[in-house]
Amino acid sequence: MKKRGDAIVLIGFMGAGKSSVGRTLARLTGLGRFDTDEMIANRFGLSISEIFEAQGEEKFREAETETLRELVGRGQAIIVTGGGIVLRKENVDLLRELGAIFYLSADEDTLFARISRRTTRPLLQTADPRATLKELLAARLPLYRSAADVEVDTSRLKHEEVARKILENLEDDDRGKVNAEG
Ligand code: S3P
Repeated sequence: MKKRGDAIVLIGFMGAGKSSVGRTLARLTGLGRFDTDEMIANRFGLSISEIFEAQGEEKFREAETETLRELVGRGQAIIVTGGGIVLRKENVDLLRELGAIFYLSADEDTLFARISRRTTRPLLQTADPRATLKELLAARLPLYRSAADVEVDTSRLKHEEVARKILENLEDDDRGKVNAEG
């Protein structure tokens, strides 16, 4: 098995708060932040919706994998991913190589309330976005859970509280390692 890196990796459904928690973690730790959606949008010079429209979802998914490959070996950082990153097994292997994977979860009502504030998510521009959310969530839940090292339910937490939980978890983990080593 490949060595696990030092990054803090955030995965989870649209509306789970990955971007905001990622920013908070970067502020609290002083580490650099890489957001795969932002990197892809910069690479194409287009918004995510425009990429889906002009190039199709498959091109976007390829760009996600390429972006993760570029991030491997960059060391300690905060890595924020798009909600569909777990759809490819290769991506999950790359995320494991990058670092500790935190799955930010939330209940369906909370996700829908958060997502409804914006119309920037191409996958939810359907006749019945709530039904689409339910379907996508059911299909992805097992993928998030099997990829994750730790799940944090964000439904009733502020971004800062989620970030602190993640940092506490890493500290506990380090303490565990020190104890195990002697
Ligand atoms: C997607 C989630 C989006 C973005 C794209 C596809 C998905 O990111 O990558 O619209 O498949 O769930 P967020 O999770 O940041 O909204």
